[in-house]
Amino acid sequence: MKLEKKVAIITGAGRGLGQGIAYCFAEEGADLVLCSRSFTEVEKTAEKIKSMGRSALPVQTDVTQSQEVQQLVQDTLNTFGRIDILVNNVGGGRSDVGVGGGAVSKRGFSILDLSDDDWDGSYEVNLKSQVYMCKAVASHMKAQKSGKIINISSIAGKTGDPYRMPYSAMKAATINFTRALAKELARDNINVNCICPGLIYTPAWQVGAKILLEKAPAYQTLKAPENVFQEYVKRLVPLGREQTAEDIGRTAVFLASDDARNITGQAINVDGGIVMD
Ligand SMILES: NC(=O)c1ccc[n+]([C@@H]2O[C@H](COP(=O)([O-])OP(=O)(O)OC[C@H]3O[C@@H](n4cnc5c(N)ncnc54)[C@H](O)[C@@H]3O)[C@@H](O)[C@H]2O)c1
Repeated sequence: MKLEKKVAIITGAGRGLGQGIAYCFAEEGADLVLCSRSFTEVEKTAEKIKSMGRSALPVQTDVTQSQEVQQLVQDTLNTFGRIDILVNNVGGGRSDVGVGGGAVSKRGFSILDLSDDDWDGSYEVNLKSQVYMCKAVASHMKAQKSGKIINISSIAGKTGDPYRMPYSAMKAATINFTRALAKELARDNINVNCICPGLIYTPAWQVGAKILLEKAPAYQTLKAPENVFQEYVKRLVPLGREQTAEDIGRTAVFLASDDARNITGQAINVDGGIVMD
């Protein structure tokens, strides 16, 4: 097992990619702290992980709130005594400011439609949350002279998606935040990397596809949200198939393991070949 006796915090672990990453980490022997805004979601993920023979602590946390993030890190230390791995998976949109899952704004796609709230909300969920989490674990990882941080970005952060303008900008910022932090923390034996997922039909994508179907002229003839997603896959993916939460989980396991001890500051695409750089 690649992560035996390691303690990992995974944000947004109640569904979608975060849940997939959690299951892959548990299979490799890690003990887990699972956080989400929804306690019910992470509680269910924690139950499954305990049935796999691992320890799991579900915590209700809003990772855009600095004090809640600090409490999450303190709860982790109180329960497990250490933090080896942080996966910053939370991202997408903030439904309370009109942005749907996957960060497609209900107000429209053009820069003329997007409001201050769309931009501020995207910054909070996608970038500020990762900065708060990294800051909260950094002193602990520096003191133990080891650690692995994995930030979930997106291929949108490399290509720029006109239907998700603030999201694309913030995911690009995540990649460069990762590089800068990797340079700072390298001397303390802490690896910081990004994963850029491609197309996975999670609850976030389901909401985003519904908005595209209603509002984007290019997709209105497609009749069902899943057809919008499949159209993206057909148009964009050279390997011709969608990706899975497990694909992202396995890449995260690799980056969190000793196999990746000399990899830092990278943004690795797991996207069936959409982006080839
Ligand atoms: N699904 C895709 O195709 C895809 C592609 C590229 C990148 N990504 C990225 O992968 C990550 C996960 O995406 P997903 O599709 O699984 O999303 P999702 O919306 O299905 O799941 C996100 C989880 O994060 C939680 N969450 C949201 N805001 C939170 C907050 N402020 N505090 C705590 N928890 C919060 C939600 O409750 C949920 O459990 C995101 O960063 C997303 O941008 C996804």
